[in-house]
Amino acid sequence: METILATTYPIHFNEKAYVELARIVKENNYSSIFIMVDDNTLECCYPRFIQNFQTESPIEVIQIDAGEIHKNIETCVGVWNAMTELGADRKSLVITLGGGVLTDLGGFVASTFKRGIDFINIPTTLLSMVDASVGGKTGVDLGVLKNQIGVFANPQMVLIDPEYLHTLSSREIRSGTAEIIKYGMTHDIHLFNEIKDNPNVNLVDLIHRSIEIKNEVVTEDPKEKGLRKVLNWGHTIGHAIESYFLENEHKEALTHGEAIAIGMVCEAFISSKTQGFSIEKTNEIKQAITAIYGKTIILPEDVQPIMELLKHDKKNESGIVKFVLLKDYEGFVINAEASSELIKESLAFYNK
Ligand code: GLY
Repeated sequence: METILATTYPIHFNEKAYVELARIVKENNYSSIFIMVDDNTLECCYPRFIQNFQTESPIEVIQIDAGEIHKNIETCVGVWNAMTELGADRKSLVITLGGGVLTDLGGFVASTFKRGIDFINIPTTLLSMVDASVGGKTGVDLGVLKNQIGVFANPQMVLIDPEYLHTLSSREIRSGTAEIIKYGMTHDIHLFNEIKDNPNVNLVDLIHRSIEIKNEVVTEDPKEKGLRKVLNWGHTIGHAIESYFLENEHKEALTHGEAIAIGMVCEAFISSKTQGFSIEKTNEIKQAITAIYGKTIILPEDVQPIMELLKHDKKNESGIVKFVLLKDYEGFVINAEASSELIKESLAFYNK
């Protein structure tokens, strides 16, 4: 599988990636290597990783607790302290082995330790393979505010090994699939069609194409001044739904992908009302999403709190909720607006 070249780093796939990893580590002559894992990846991914990783540099493993709740500055302090006690210096390397929480937090820890040391991302979930590990966003949450603290910093390389996907539940795979569907609708409809028409699709090609698309977008707009906002297709309403289900004790939390899948249905509806997006395609999206993710019930009393959460979306400007909307498949507008009535109608459309 062909290497993808980001501006300052390569994204290598499969066996070749381990060869390249060994080469980069040798070339840079790192004084020590800190492999960051969480409880899950220590058990499920680390044995495969260490079997395939060849180096003469000393290795230390640093384990953090799994889960978004631990993606905070206290966890970073724990890691910085551990690295200091273990003698990390400016020639040390951090390798992150995990999902988006780990690659975001590990990249942040590395890029701030002694004003910045090298790091390499090894995403082990589908979601982090196609999204978090590429594009240079690192950081942690501040209380309930997601990714409030962080820096843009690029890794030395990204290693994609689809074998790690075998450690995931089908629900986690479906969560990542939503991001692939997202790239399909905005950039390459083939991705959406493959997933929609073929439940047993081989994910490896779709991962490669998704990363190619993300890389093209972030290369053009690394700091999200404009174009990069397209990566938030489905996320405006999706994030509000995700937060609402997470915070509401009477609801079962949704995965990120489940929430943004609902977001894509709602935002397709808004697109059909304001951007000329076809109603047939809107119905096609609703049908495909419901077939993959099932139906989540959004009750009448859920609507107002979801509307309130929309006000905190990070794309908002001067208090106005901003959307990515579709004119057609592979044709989008950013910074679009929609009335509150229309947003409520879109939730009703999903529910119908
Ligand atoms: N996950 C969206 C981005 O990287 O910009």
